[in-house]
Order: sequence, then structure tokens, then C-alpha cells
Amino acid sequence: MRVLIVGGGGREHALAWKLSQSPLLSELYCAPGNAGIASLAECLEIKADDVAALTEWAVAHKIDLVVVGPEAPLAAGLGDELRAAGLAVFGPGRDGARLEGSKIWAKELMRRLKIPTADFAVFDSYDSARSYLENLGDKPVVVKADGLAAGKGVTVARTAAEAAGALEELMIKKKFGASGERVILEEYLNGEEVSVLAITDGKELLMLPSAQDHKAIGEGDTGPNTGGMGAYAPAPVYTPDLARQVEQKVFRPLLRGFSDLGIDYRGVIYAGLMVEGGSFKVLEFNARFGDPETQAILPLLQSDLLPVLMAAAAGDLAGVKVEWSDDAAVCVVLASAGYPGDYETGCRIEGLDYFNRSLEDKMVLFHAGTAFRHGDIVTAGGRVLGLTAWAGDLSAAVESVYRAVHKIKYQGCYYRGDIARRALKRPE
Ligand code: AMP
Ligand code: GLY
Repeated sequence: MRVLIVGGGGREHALAWKLSQSPLLSELYCAPGNAGIASLAECLEIKADDVAALTEWAVAHKIDLVVVGPEAPLAAGLGDELRAAGLAVFGPGRDGARLEGSKIWAKELMRRLKIPTADFAVFDSYDSARSYLENLGDKPVVVKADGLAAGKGVTVARTAAEAAGALEELMIKKKFGASGERVILEEYLNGEEVSVLAITDGKELLMLPSAQDHKAIGEGDTGPNTGGMGAYAPAPVYTPDLARQVEQKVFRPLLRGFSDLGIDYRGVIYAGLMVEGGSFKVLEFNARFGDPETQAILPLLQSDLLPVLMAAAAGDLAGVKVEWSDDAAVCVVLASAGYPGDYETGCRIEGLDYFNRSLEDKMVLFHAGTAFRHGDIVTAGGRVLGLTAWAGDLSAAVESVYRAVHKIKYQGCYYRGDIARRALKRPE
């Protein structure tokens, strides 16, 4: 089978790594890929959001399955174009991608379907949002841009002044352009976050092990939010009882909602939950695999991923079963100094050879922002690499990952030393 992966980050490297283990695979391509993916796939010089060029290339090369990693191409209609050209696609069309592409659409859908979520109000003018804030007083409130903002459109404001500042950035200064023309002001929720992903063909669900991301740059969850500094799976806070509730109260109603709206959703549904005291609310949905959650989840999958993605793309997931290992996995992200603000690129990375390993070693190094330069592999992004280790329990996985991570060296290398610490401290 000839497969094209769209994207070029750690998540796409994890997908390429898992798919390249499939006996059904004949050719693997990735657009645009990165220096790590290049050892598993032929990388194409096509941008992940160039819908026309990707469609033309995939048709000309008779691709059997296109797996779309990031949200932007989904929101831009890549799934629709490819399907219209007769190709099988893992990833929803523009309609299903609204789940992530418009937070207002997603919140209103949740309200209609009675999916538990934080209370919220929607505003399309700065003045009305400001007067709503004034009535709230000094309670914490969450300000969200409606549209895609590369994960940066959310401000958790502790005070009304902070919230007003965020509103001004979005609605007056238009920091994220049209994405911030409409905003949500949302009730602040306490608790612990969990990412729950399911593969779906629009009718059936295949639930993946839960994971916990670490969004803040600093240890102890301090400092600004990033794309994710590490993840572990499964998350002990997500008990079997919660898993049952979430499937019944979130994923099943959502599929019924899609069906009522005529949305044929084939891909991943990602629910970001806030869990507190055995109950939960949905914070957000994404229309794709999480990054870096995927780098912690896929090493636990014992079955071949390719037929699963193929079945979802074909609308034929019924009866597909997969095996998960009982291990726990942890992924530590290595970033560039300064990230999520400005950072340097082009720094030579050393120590990569140490990570050329077999599956039995239960360790894999995923590349995110890396590139080739004059025969070297150099940094090319804020998040550079993700090292995943897995073992019989989480503390052994954590020990293994931190025993190895310092073998990687580049100027300005930064990683958090406390990934999964919260789960390890949890009372039994
Ligand atoms: P979102 O993109 O909607 O998931 O928001 C990004 C991050 O902001 C989440 O991962 C949470 O850490 C935080 N967040 C979003 N909504 C809330 C909320 N209602 N209460 C507390 N934190 C939130
Ligand atoms: N890890 C958060 C995300 O993928 O959106």
C-alpha cells in the first residue's frame, strides 16, 4: 500500500514510525516531513496546507491512503479535495474539522447535545464582551478566540484586567486576524487535564489509551503555554468509570450529532477534558491526533495501525479490534531555548546515533523541528525532538527516558525534568 502522511512534526514522525512497521506498506511518503521522518519515508517539498499541490501529487502517484496530521489542512478542505478525487483519507472534511476550527461551533454543538462543558458566552463585539466582564467582577475567566490560532488563542485570565487585555489583543489589535473576530468568555475550571482520543469512521469508535499533555514551558506547570512539552499514557486519573462515562456522554452523542448534521467524520476525535473529583467537563475538541500525545500512545499499540486507519477512511471500522500493551509510555519534548517565544535555529544536534534502536529497547526518538544542513542534522523549530520510552510501569518508563535524554546535545537544548511526575505522586 502506498501511504502519504501530511505534516512534519513529532506526531507525524510517530505515525510514520508505526506505519512503517506494517507488512502491508509498500511506499511511505511525507509532506513535508523532517530529518527524522526522512529515514522512514520519502519527504516531499510540498507544504502541509497546500491543498491543491497535495491533491495533484497524491492522485498522480496513486496513493492508497492519505493520513492528515495537522489541523490547518483539514480546516482548509484537504480531506474534501482528496475524497472528491477518489482517494481514501484519514481525516475529516471541512465540515467535521469545524469541531476544532471554530470553538464557538463546537461549544454550541456541545450545548445542544448536552455534552458536559464549561459555561460560556459568545461575543462578536469588544464592547459587549467588556461589559460582560465588568459584571463578572474579579473571578478568573478564560478568553478564547473562535478560530485557529496555532494553539495560542486561549488565555486563562486570573483577573478582569488580564481578561480585558486578552480581549483587546484579539478584537482590537487583531493578533490572530479573523480567528479573533468572535470570542468566547468561559467559566474557569479547576482540575487535571486529560486527552482522550478515538479513531472513528463516523459510526464506530475505537478508543485509544488516555494521555496527559504538559502544556506549560516550565517545571511545575509554570510559565507560558506551548504546543506541549511532554506526555504520558495512560493517565491514571482517567479511571475505567470515567472512560465509560466519557464514551457515553461525549463521544456517542457527538457521533449522533454529526450524523444528524450529515457530517461523515472519518479520522480522530480528540477530547481535551478537565477532570475533578471523579467528574469531567470537555475543554475542547481537536479534529486530529494530539502532539505530543501520539508520541506516547502509539508505542503502546501492538497491532498494525495501517489497516485501522484504512478501515476508518473507508467507513468500515465495524469489527476492527486492536491490542494494546500493558506498558506505560512517557515522551519528553526537547525544545529550543526561548521557545515558545523567539528562538534560534540551525544548531547542530549531536548524539542522535545513540537512539538507533530496535523495538525491544522500548525507546524511540521522534523528530519534530529538525532539518538537514551540509550533512548535519540541525534544529529547525521550537520543539525539536521528543524522546519516548515505555516500560512495565510509569516510574520505570520515566527513569528510562531521563537516563537517556541527556545524550542529545545542541546549543540551547531545554526540556522539562518533571514529565509524568504528577501521575507518580498520585496516591494509589
Ligand atoms: P483549549 O485550546 O480550549 O484546550 O485551551 C487551551 C488550554 O487552556 C487548555 O489545555 C487548558 O489548559 C486551558 N483552558 C481552556 N479552557 C479552560 C477552562 N474553562 N478552565 C481552565 N482552563 C482552561
Ligand atoms: N497536545 C495538544 C494538542 O495536540 O492540541
